[in-house]
Amino acid sequence: MYIRRAAAATLRRRLSRWYARSARDLPWRRTRDAYAVLVSEVMLQQTQVSRVLPAYTAFLRRFPTLAALSRAALADVLRAWSGLGYNRRARDLHRIARLHPRALPATREGLDLLPGVGSYTAGAVSCFSRGESIAFADTNIRRVLGRALLGRVASEREAVALDEQLVPARGTDRWHHALMDLGATVCLARTPRCEACPIALDCRSRGRVVRAAPRRQAAFATSDRRVRGRIIALLRERDRVTLRELRDAIGDARTDGLVDALQDEGLLERSGRVIQLPT
Ligand code: ADE
Repeated sequence: MYIRRAAAATLRRRLSRWYARSARDLPWRRTRDAYAVLVSEVMLQQTQVSRVLPAYTAFLRRFPTLAALSRAALADVLRAWSGLGYNRRARDLHRIARLHPRALPATREGLDLLPGVGSYTAGAVSCFSRGESIAFADTNIRRVLGRALLGRVASEREAVALDEQLVPARGTDRWHHALMDLGATVCLARTPRCEACPIALDCRSRGRVVRAAPRRQAAFATSDRRVRGRIIALLRERDRVTLRELRDAIGDARTDGLVDALQDEGLLERSGRVIQLPT
């Protein structure tokens, strides 16, 4: 979809004024350190802001640089990841630090090749650490730009194509932060607050979003992910256990299979009968 220049300018101006009043003050927005930005983006991929806040500060205190992270045992990185879930992300960050202990790749393309880093994260790190004027879209941006301009939530591709036409030459970090904040606080997925929205006048969905039925998540209580999380949590506390001890403690028939999977993914190690977090 083509956006007229005047319409793009209006949208940018309205959003920018709103952001000047309503910005969330988040610690990863106060740094230009690419490593710290990467840590925040990886944490935010699957964990909500309120949980990321304490974990982000503690993680960077413990591992302030790529070099520090590269020297750490994965076991300690997994301990610092406690409470965030999706432990593969901690493994990926640790791998990145071992691949690039001095500095992260300085281009979006280079970042895109890193383990666990996709187009969105590579774009976000380039924008927030180097101020690069590039387009990218997470779920909030897809919802805000999609609703405003297409009248529905956009796919990532569609949202990036819209963002390319809108992204300002300077202040792209503010532009993307503003879109994220609007999505997180006003243009909510289920109950948008159009009456509080600075771009409602420009919005094709204004007042037309049908309240969706609550989305049913796969039951976490019984999911593999939960059992995986419990296995790693147990290993964080008890350095070394046998498979039998682990089976007894977890009490779930999937334990053996999940231990195999976690070992394949490099999230635990076995030597003889002993199982432990990777050193
Ligand atoms: N600031 C930068 N990236 C962010 C994100 N993914 N969520 C919320 N705030 C952010």
